[in-house]
Amino acid sequence: MDDLTERFWNMAKLLDEASVLLDAQSKVVAANDAALDILGSHITGYPLDRFLRHPDFADAVRRASYEGALTSLDYTRMDQVRRSFTLRIAPFEPGYVLLVIFDGTMDLSVERIRSDFVANVSHELRSPLTALSGFIETLQDGAVEDEAARMNFLSIMQGEAARMQRLIDDLLHLSRVEAEEHRLPNAAVELVPILEELASAMRDMADKNDKTINVEIAPDLLSGNDDTPFAVQGVRDELRQVFQNLVENAIRYGAPDSAVNLRVGKGRLASGQTRDDLLRVQVINKGETIAPEHLARLTERFYRIDKGRSRQMGGTGLGLAIVKHIVNRHRGRLRIASAAEETTISVTLPRVS
Ligand SMILES: Nc1ncnc2c1ncn2[C@@H]1O[C@H](COP(=O)(O)OP(=O)(O)OP(=O)(O)O)[C@@H](O)[C@H]1O
Ligand SMILES: [Mg+2]
Repeated sequence: MDDLTERFWNMAKLLDEASVLLDAQSKVVAANDAALDILGSHITGYPLDRFLRHPDFADAVRRASYEGALTSLDYTRMDQVRRSFTLRIAPFEPGYVLLVIFDGTMDLSVERIRSDFVANVSHELRSPLTALSGFIETLQDGAVEDEAARMNFLSIMQGEAARMQRLIDDLLHLSRVEAEEHRLPNAAVELVPILEELASAMRDMADKNDKTINVEIAPDLLSGNDDTPFAVQGVRDELRQVFQNLVENAIRYGAPDSAVNLRVGKGRLASGQTRDDLLRVQVINKGETIAPEHLARLTERFYRIDKGRSRQMGGTGLGLAIVKHIVNRHRGRLRIASAAEETTISVTLPRVS
């Protein structure tokens, strides 16, 4: 390897991006694997304009080699999928030019997720708003004179306004937990008292939906000589929020006249072997088995199996998205399983020893 290519390889290693060494006529002298992946495997020795078509590319190479200019170009490639790149063309050594290709495809899909999100939020806000405007108009058109109609409409309007409020609260909450996701909480929190307090706070809601709530603790958790067997590293309010959302779902979507069980035990590996350093809480309810194509998507924002039903229950479709972010922040694992008319949502968290 001569000096020139050796310097190129060192540079390419340092940059850790798709890199190509060209001569002043755009002929490829060397290219790293990432560049071959993008441009094709047999570009070495050939003029690169055959493989990379861009109206300003040849000019950028010429200016880099004769004037020492650095140029940045946007470049889109249609292979199996559309990919977008930024090309940077810079002088390397006299008569040679370095091309570095930055992949912007990920940034674009982040952009798409963001714009889908805005579209979803707008859509979710529009329906209560349309209902509100409709009732206001009806009242203005004379219904305001009719006492019974007026009271009925006002109560529906109140419900719609409350729905918008809930949606906005959930969105703010979600953005807060997202922002905190990378900070590891460091207080020790006793989980079982939270679950017990939650179960009694939610008994009213459970009663109204013909459900009972039980908290069960696996004996193996209590058998050790640990005096804080239920402590995990966490933020109390966030953990409470996780289980409140899960219990609420179990009450809402579970079969009538059935129980919601909160089962606490040691964490388990996929093989079934227990792990002393993990605590697992399962929220279990009876009800229709959730089909696999839905299961994988339940934690997406606004994803609901039955929009009408969730909406009627006051749902915004953000509950599990919030749960997922909080569990991630706690370095925990969320698992959703559904079989034989039973749905189990497991949250596994690191214990404080
Ligand atoms: N225990 C469960 N049994 C059956 N379906 C469930 C269960 N939990 C969640 N789902 C389904 O997953 C969807 C998303 O749940 P999620 O908690 O994110 O939103 P939501 O309950 O509709 O509204 P929100 O929680 O924001 O008030 C629900 O609409 C429901 O279709
Ligand atoms: Mg929910």
